[in-house]
Amino acid sequence: MLTEIGRFDLNAIGPDFIENPHPTLHWLRDNAPVHRNADGSVYLTRYDDVLKVYQSRDMLSDKKEEFGRKFGQCPLHKHHTTSLIFNDPPYHTVVRKLISGAFTPRKLAIFEPLIDQIVDRLLDRVEEMGELDLIEDFAKILPTEIISFMLGIPEEYRARLRGYSLAILGALDPVVPADRLAAGNRAVEEFGEILNDLINRRRANADGAHEGEVLEALIFGEHEGRRLTQEELIQNCIFLLNAGHETTTSFVGNSMGLLFDNPDQHRMLRDNPDLIAPAVEEFLRVESPLQIGNRLAGEDIELATGTLPRGTYIHTSIGGANRDPSVFPDPDRMDITRKPNRQIAFITGIHVCLGATLARVEGRIAIGKLVSRFPKIRDNGPRTRVPLARFRGYATLPVKVT
Ligand code: HEM
Repeated sequence: MLTEIGRFDLNAIGPDFIENPHPTLHWLRDNAPVHRNADGSVYLTRYDDVLKVYQSRDMLSDKKEEFGRKFGQCPLHKHHTTSLIFNDPPYHTVVRKLISGAFTPRKLAIFEPLIDQIVDRLLDRVEEMGELDLIEDFAKILPTEIISFMLGIPEEYRARLRGYSLAILGALDPVVPADRLAAGNRAVEEFGEILNDLINRRRANADGAHEGEVLEALIFGEHEGRRLTQEELIQNCIFLLNAGHETTTSFVGNSMGLLFDNPDQHRMLRDNPDLIAPAVEEFLRVESPLQIGNRLAGEDIELATGTLPRGTYIHTSIGGANRDPSVFPDPDRMDITRKPNRQIAFITGIHVCLGATLARVEGRIAIGKLVSRFPKIRDNGPRTRVPLARFRGYATLPVKVT
């Protein structure tokens, strides 16, 4: 086992790592916390190192060069290089300020009762079904409904959004066959046309909308006299719709899976619904939906075990950092009362997840209501995993609620 782990390469991981990366991550943290992969990139698994990378202004997110090589000039290239996540200041700062204005806690407080209603409506359907796949029939629908509502995407388009999202994000895998590239390009174009029309309609009719307040804030918001161009608006709205998708779906699925695997914790949450806020932090720590991040060192960076030179391509293990025993005692044990809990599932630094507050609200409402409304909710057959290392989640999670 150990020799096999010793030969570990992040670019050649197998199904065992995807099923359960934690034994390998513990070994790497203890024996090779700055692990070098065959292509020269490094993989960091210690909390302090990962935190330092995210907090440093010299660690870069811009991927124009990499995506130029990968995609050439095409809609996918335009999309990924215009999204704020793959940009550095000053462009990143402008887009981030404008989007932040639309996601303030005050705005989210207005949305909370509506999120509540959306969850109740979806749970009515869950109750009628009795036996269901929690991923397909609940967790996947929830984020689409909520972000579509916030952006004002009409009902008739919503069913297509998940397909677009998967096609666009699927093109980020290390190896992308030609048909998947073509599907990704088509998705950016079709989705872009829908948003172009919506934005034009909203420009012509700025007020009076009870839906789509976020879109309105993005169109009319200004940062230091700068507004987003039509292209920037379209590509960043596509990104917003994609960003919360797989992550929130996995968040809800992983949390319920953890409760089924830890019946004492499930019981404790059912008997003490007020524990939902710390419980959500613990679910995010133990099974972080986004497991791996990347940065390019724009300058040398000092880590506890030595200096990484400028130009190093860095993979950060968010899942590994969140189970570092030097920060989280008994890290593999799920404890919904854990305090303090400095988990970094949303990372930290200038790219800290803009949807973190929204995701927490969605999680508290969705998981809290699943547990309280369905006291008998339980596993109903084998689960399957999403076959990806970067995103950790279930592809299927059969449950029975009555
Ligand atoms: C549990 C659910 C979620 C998790 C675990 C998560 C995680 C993350 C992480 C780790 C990043 C940083 C990526 C990087 O820079 O390397 C990020 C960025 C981002 N997330 Fe989330 N996310 C979640 C839900 C959402 C939702 C619901 C939205 C909004 C609808 C959202 C919007 C964003 C945006 C806009 C960024 C880019 C921020 C920037 O580059 O400045 N996320 N997210």
